[in-house]
Amino acid sequence: MKLKGKAALVTGGGTGMGRAITLKLAGEGADVAINYSRRAKEAEETVEAVRRLGVRAFAMKADVAVEAEAIRLVDEAAKQFGRLDVLVNNAGWSTAVPHRQLDGLTEEVLERTWQINVKGPIYVTRAAIPHMLKAGGGAIVNTTSVAAYQGAGSSIIYGASKAALGAITKSLARAFGKDNIRVNAIAPGFVDTGFVNWPASVKEKAIAGSPMGRIPTPEDAANAVLYLVCDATGVTAQTIFVDCGVTALHPVV
Ligand SMILES: NC(=O)c1ccc[n+]([C@@H]2O[C@H](COP(=O)([O-])OP(=O)(O)OC[C@H]3O[C@@H](n4cnc5c(N)ncnc54)[C@H](OP(=O)(O)O)[C@@H]3O)[C@@H](O)[C@H]2O)c1
Repeated sequence: MKLKGKAALVTGGGTGMGRAITLKLAGEGADVAINYSRRAKEAEETVEAVRRLGVRAFAMKADVAVEAEAIRLVDEAAKQFGRLDVLVNNAGWSTAVPHRQLDGLTEEVLERTWQINVKGPIYVTRAAIPHMLKAGGGAIVNTTSVAAYQGAGSSIIYGASKAALGAITKSLARAFGKDNIRVNAIAPGFVDTGFVNWPASVKEKAIAGSPMGRIPTPEDAANAVLYLVCDATGVTAQTIFVDCGVTALHPVV
């Protein structure tokens, strides 16, 4: 049990990769807090699954894009568990806007994507850092995306938001390295979580283009997070691509 006695917060931990990450951290003995903005039922089901592992867990409704709610979430986790050691900024949002359809980047899409994917992690991290300092250190993992590196993905602003989160990862790693707070990122490739309203053909194309002949699973993402949180003791400011090799192994012509 690598995380026995530790406390974690996984934003958007009720569904998809967040759920797998939550269960993975709990499986190593961590108490885990999660939040949701819309899907309460899935979050409560995840909490039940976590409790069956013998650790404490709770879910609360908190929109990470609203700073007061992000603060309330972090404070509740620290209050219920008495500490906070691990933060996974997993919550994210996007919608499919073809990159040539620049008019599709409405003010609403631009604002919402940036507010949730960039300002949200800043709000949550800003609230969490004092608790980590109190605990003598911590580990933060931000979920970015291959979209930040490929000029591809669900929308132009989505890739930009995840690139920004990658830059934030590095800045935080430098700023708090001497406080024993490590800050890393995972950059998943296409994962079949229903995250974006993609047609089925996108999944088929992703599998066809994958050097591993498959797409990453939520469990793959969770394994990478667990490594960064527990075993990567000398690692900070890094991004692990959980994309079955797509970004590193460009198609050979
Ligand atoms: N799936 C992919 O192909 C892929 C690839 C690369 C990176 N990612 C990233 O991976 C992360 C997890 O996505 P996923 O694929 O696991 O999809 P998902 O199941 O839809 O997870 C997204 C989570 O974020 C939460 N969330 C969204 N907006 C929120 C807000 N304003 N406040 C609080 N929580 C909010 C959602 O909760 P509610 O539903 O309750 O709002 C949901 O639990 C995201 O950051 C995404 O950008 C996904």
